[in-house]
Amino acid sequence: MTAALPISLRVNGEPVEAFVQPRVNLADFLREHLKLTGTHVGCEHGVCGACTVRVNGEIVRSCLMLAVQAGDASVETIEGLSDSGEIADLQSAFRERNALQCGFCTPAMLITAQDLLKRESEPGRDLIREHLSGNYCRCTGYQAIVDAVEATAKARKSRAP
Ligand code: FES
Ligand code: FES
Repeated sequence: MTAALPISLRVNGEPVEAFVQPRVNLADFLREHLKLTGTHVGCEHGVCGACTVRVNGEIVRSCLMLAVQAGDASVETIEGLSDSGEIADLQSAFRERNALQCGFCTPAMLITAQDLLKRESEPGRDLIREHLSGNYCRCTGYQAIVDAVEATAKARKSRAP
């Protein structure tokens, strides 16, 4: 068996030190080593988007990144975004608009939507659809998700100074 390698990173603002096998991807590391199971694993080859997390502020598919590649990085998962309150309004909009059913896609959908809302204060529905197009949902038909993201954008814009 290949020797485990030491890594040190920040996860949701907390320092993490661990030894991991070089073949372990970031999604499995978060779920199995750190028990952060809000990061879901669907296709495991970069298609469904369920494993989306933020690494150094950018969204990435954590099934396509090795845990050792996240050494020295700052990783944020849905647990971190939820606990900080950063996406509380977006989560409320998802609930109010029935933008989730089984919930499997939801953590990654929220992270991806927040990524768009941080870049664009007034995204149109086409842009919302385009930005979320790498995140698959098998339940909702997407309409309610787009509604929730659009409503959140409008509410944030109306609150902006
Ligand atoms: S599990 Fe990573 S993209 Fe599907
Ligand atoms: S709510 Fe079930 S996959 Fe999206």
